[in-house]
Amino acid sequence: MPHEARAVVALKKGAPVEVLPILVPDPGPGDVLVTVQACGVCHTDLHYRDGAIGDDFPYLLGHEAAGVIEEVGPGVTDLAPGDYVVLAWRAPCGQCRSCRRARPWYCFASRNAGRAMTLMDGTELTAALGIGAFAEKTLVAAGQAVKVDPSARPEAAGLIGCGVMAGYGAAVHTGEVGSGDTVAVIGCGGVGNAAIAGASRAGARRVIAVDLDDGKLDAAERFGATDTVNSRGTDPVEAVRALTGGHGADVVIDAVGRPETYRQAFYMRDLAGTLVQVGVPGPEMRIDLPLLDLFSRGGALKSSWYGDCLPSRDFPVLIDLFLSGKLDLERFISETIALDDLEAAFAKMQRGQVLRSVVVV
Ligand SMILES: NC(=O)c1ccc[n+]([C@@H]2O[C@H](COP(=O)([O-])OP(=O)(O)OC[C@H]3O[C@@H](n4cnc5c(N)ncnc54)[C@H](O)[C@@H]3O)[C@@H](O)[C@H]2O)c1
Ligand SMILES: [Zn+2]
Ligand SMILES: [Zn+2]
Repeated sequence: MPHEARAVVALKKGAPVEVLPILVPDPGPGDVLVTVQACGVCHTDLHYRDGAIGDDFPYLLGHEAAGVIEEVGPGVTDLAPGDYVVLAWRAPCGQCRSCRRARPWYCFASRNAGRAMTLMDGTELTAALGIGAFAEKTLVAAGQAVKVDPSARPEAAGLIGCGVMAGYGAAVHTGEVGSGDTVAVIGCGGVGNAAIAGASRAGARRVIAVDLDDGKLDAAERFGATDTVNSRGTDPVEAVRALTGGHGADVVIDAVGRPETYRQAFYMRDLAGTLVQVGVPGPEMRIDLPLLDLFSRGGALKSSWYGDCLPSRDFPVLIDLFLSGKLDLERFISETIALDDLEAAFAKMQRGQVLRSVVVV
């Protein structure tokens, strides 16, 4: 019997989202039904609503969540009703060409639920990042549900499921920040501040936060930024060079994803430095750089998908860091809201008033 649940749906490109009843099927083979407890609002949800990710409307939004397993489908042996989980948008298949090359964090055939959730009239929903957790219940593949220590409350734990993992991993895994490195992070929202926290824990000697908003820069200092640059009135490339002996940073993380921030990140690096692009650009965006500069500045230009994480390995680790006081997840939570408040939360995100609004379901 399908389960009826209230959920946040984007019906049409750019239109305000709506809270609607949906039908969540019973879990099929390899899938699990999850009672969602909390789900953070990530900028990617807004990209979905605006049609910047794809055109597979209607979308069921939400992908940064913690909850409890309610039912398991046939063949699921490592999860049981009552287990406390954080949902992941990557569940490596073990068989694709990337998994076979021992790079499961790129898995090209990541697992999702085998059955679609629908509107009450049977219209199939596309679950954002294969999750869809701005809902009382959701259906995911078992590999997407990662058991973590239940003493971490869901409002904080759920943040590991996207923005915090993406930012932290962009610094630690993709950027390979190491002891003594200099790091700059452009864009200090949930993702950028997690990158700052990751770089700081990895031993960076200098972590320079760049944003257009002084409030975000204040927050960045509390996550471990040693210096801040407001790029509204200052050239951030010059500022970062000045703070790094005239050279530029060893690792620069673009957590905005616009042509102008990519260009800044590119020139803010020291020679042979690493650029990590974690912000997601829109389909219309272009960048024009002298090919000679690409060659002569050397180094590495990388994209970071989900912080190159392996959820089953990394989520429990980040939760342990949180519980031992080494990763302040609580500080990301600007407010807790209800499912009905999503549009207001998007507006606050656009005005830069929040790091994370977290929906408590
Ligand atoms: N690669 C991944 O796996 C992944 C995962 C999650 C989110 N994302 C993407 O990361 C980006 C950030 O997400 P978020 O949830 O932190 O968003 P957010 O809206 O909370 O934060 C964005 C920050 O960037 C700042 N900013 C905007 N334009 C700027 C500019 N020109 N220069 C400097 N700062 C600027 C804003 O003031 C804000 O502080 C989004 O594009 C999101 O889609 C990527
Ligand atoms: Zn996200
Ligand atoms: Zn795979």
